[in-house]
Amino acid sequence: MVELETDSVDLETERLKLRVLRADDEDDIVNFMAERGVTEFLLFFTYPIQRQQVHAWLENVLAAPLGHCIYWSIVDPKINKTIGIISLTRDQYHRKGEIGYWLAKEYWGRGLMTEVVWRVIQYCFDTLRLHRLELTHMVANKASQRVAEKVGFQLEGCWREGHWKEGRFLDVKIYGMLDVDYVRTKKHFAAAKAAEVAQSS
Ligand SMILES: CC(C)(COP(=O)(O)OP(=O)(O)OC[C@H]1O[C@@H](n2cnc3c(N)ncnc32)[C@H](O)[C@@H]1OP(=O)(O)O)[C@@H](O)C(=O)NCCC(=O)NCCS
Repeated sequence: MVELETDSVDLETERLKLRVLRADDEDDIVNFMAERGVTEFLLFFTYPIQRQQVHAWLENVLAAPLGHCIYWSIVDPKINKTIGIISLTRDQYHRKGEIGYWLAKEYWGRGLMTEVVWRVIQYCFDTLRLHRLELTHMVANKASQRVAEKVGFQLEGCWREGHWKEGRFLDVKIYGMLDVDYVRTKKHFAAAKAAEVAQSS
């Protein structure tokens, strides 16, 4: 199985680059996370965001052992700035991983996170040969729910009051995707793309 090497897993999508997170991404992250709404459904951040929160989080994730966690900066190649984060936490023994993500508000609603999550899913199954992926979101987070649905995650249940966020326990939806689900979704996407091409020609 491929190991998670932090210097060898930069990825690309049609519109964006995924570059392994670095300490010098801090300014960009502080800037885009300052916007109200970005932190609403994130566990480790509160609004208004303080540089110290981001700094401590960055120090922590950059110190995580290789092979366990990888964090990518989502980079807009037109301006060469970090506009979001996507993470993969891997459990090697069970050949599974968990994906988490967030994006600068000005980029929401253009299908970008769906594109990014799908690229990381491809990496997880095609390259890392994982067996299973997991994703969770707070029940009120409808945008994240749609992203999970669009890339083919299956709803597996709900943790009642599973997360503590800013003074309240919140219900959390949990999703899973097996390698066989991935193959099915990939075929479905390929067929949809072929139909689109046929229609436009
Ligand atoms: C969740 C998030 C990453 C989505 O990014 P994005 O690039 O806007 O996502 P996409 O454009 O690929 O897809 C979003 C989908 O949610 C839908 N959506 C957005 N807000 C919605 C709402 N309030 N109710 C229902 N659907 C909603 C969009 O219409 C779109 O679906 P569609 O393509 O079927 O129209 C972004 O909103 C974000 O960063 N939020 C704050 C951080 C966060 O919540 N992270 C996830 C933690 S689990």
